[in-house]
Amino acid sequence: MSRHVVVTGASSGIGAACARAFAAHGDRLSLGARRRDRLTGLVEGACIAPLDVTSPTSIERFLAAATAAHGPIDVLVNNAGLARGVEKIAEGTGEAWREMLETNVIGLLEVTRRVLPTMMAQGRGHIVVIGSIAGHKAYPGGGVYCGSKRALQPICEAIRMETLGHGIRVTSVDPGMVETEFSVVRFRGDAERAAKVYQGTRPLQAADVAECVLFATTRPAHVNLDTIVVMPTDQASPHHVHRATT
Ligand SMILES: NC(=O)c1ccc[n+]([C@@H]2O[C@H](COP(=O)([O-])OP(=O)(O)OC[C@H]3O[C@@H](n4cnc5c(N)ncnc54)[C@H](OP(=O)(O)O)[C@@H]3O)[C@@H](O)[C@H]2O)c1
Repeated sequence: MSRHVVVTGASSGIGAACARAFAAHGDRLSLGARRRDRLTGLVEGACIAPLDVTSPTSIERFLAAATAAHGPIDVLVNNAGLARGVEKIAEGTGEAWREMLETNVIGLLEVTRRVLPTMMAQGRGHIVVIGSIAGHKAYPGGGVYCGSKRALQPICEAIRMETLGHGIRVTSVDPGMVETEFSVVRFRGDAERAAKVYQGTRPLQAADVAECVLFATTRPAHVNLDTIVVMPTDQASPHHVHRATT
């Protein structure tokens, strides 16, 4: 049966790959991101609308457009997120911390809380969260980003408890290194520095993560995959990456 799948942050990387994977599966899509132009033509027949998860007004407009186009939401993929900078805590700035926490944590909560009540009333629904191995293991220069991803774990656990009996599934898909625009954003547009992150190694591709998301959401209704940790074969922890010597 065709489902209504909402993907936040669908203009790039993992979100865009999720949009393609769900579309190929035959689902109806609503896609949001700040760069609306990048959503155009991503998948045929999708509802596309601007979305800034740090703005409640933007979220409400986006969700209204989504439900007007495709009806009640079956799957919400909370993908919008970012890391900003690699400063140590002592050298960090409140601006970057707030951006990460407001996007990755508060933004996710603000979207999710508006979607859950209808899912509970309809007795089914799937909340997917794109976490990270950063939420499992901290690293120097990543304290706040790691904290924002770690925060998603108790949030997911609490939602499972609070919605128990309503047929709601909650899955966290937690990837290691994925080759997307993530590092360009983290290094504030420094593409050369971003490219070095992936140099000589074989990172995950966005489509690899999208496959995990699609898999989790296509299990039978009584099966909930709580957490999927997906790593490149060449990565054993945030700081253990195998690189081919040339
Ligand atoms: N790449 C990795 O190594 C990796 C590993 C583990 C987890 N993750 C997580 O995967 C998710 C997707 O990241 P990615 O790797 O695909 O990076 P990406 O290519 O930079 O994509 C990030 C997406 O998030 C959107 N976004 C950012 N801020 C937003 C906001 N305020 N409102 C709405 N959308 C917003 C961006 O769209 P606009 O800029 O157009 O708004 C973009 O579509 C993130 O949550 C990230 O933390 C990434």
